[in-house]
Amino acid sequence: MDKKIIVKMKKEVREKIVEICNRFNNNPGELINVLHQTQDFLGYLPAEAQELIAECLHIPTAKVYGVVSFYAFFTMTPKGKYPISVCLGTACYVRGAEKILDAFKKELNLEVGQTTPDGLFSLTCLRCVGACGLAPVAMVGDKVYGRLAPADVKNIVKEYKDLEAANA
Ligand code: FES
Repeated sequence: MDKKIIVKMKKEVREKIVEICNRFNNNPGELINVLHQTQDFLGYLPAEAQELIAECLHIPTAKVYGVVSFYAFFTMTPKGKYPISVCLGTACYVRGAEKILDAFKKELNLEVGQTTPDGLFSLTCLRCVGACGLAPVAMVGDKVYGRLAPADVKNIVKEYKDLEAANA
C-alpha cells in the first residue's frame, strides 16, 4: 500500500470511501457494491480509491483492480463534462443500441470507458435506464434521448459542442 498516494486524496473523499466500506461491514464479498457506490460518488475509480478500498476490505489491490478492469461499467477515467451513456439493456439492444454505440464511438473517436482529450465527452454503457418504451435510448448527463437512429448521434454531439462554444 502506497500511503503517499492515498494521502493525495482529499480528506472528505477518503472519509466518504471509508464510510461506504463500513456500510458494507468491510466485507470483501461486497466488493462490487462498494465499487458501485464509490463510482456513484466519485464518477470514476481512480487508483487511490481502489487502494483505499483494498485496505478497508483487507484484500490485495490487484484483486480490486482485476474487478474494476473486468466489468465495463466501472471506469478508471474521470467522466467528461457531458457524460454519454448508451443503454445496452434488452429492449434497447434488440432495437439497435449497438449501432448507436458504434455511431458515438465513431463520432467522438472514443472507446467505451474513455474520455475525449478536451474532457468534454465520455462514453459508457448502461443496462436499462427505465425508458424501454423509447428504445434505443442514450443519455447525456441526466437528459434522455429516445428512439434513436445512428444518424441522430451527430446532432446530439453537435448540440453539446454548440453549447460549449456559446458558453466560451
Ligand atoms: S433496455 Fe434500454 S431503457 Fe430499458
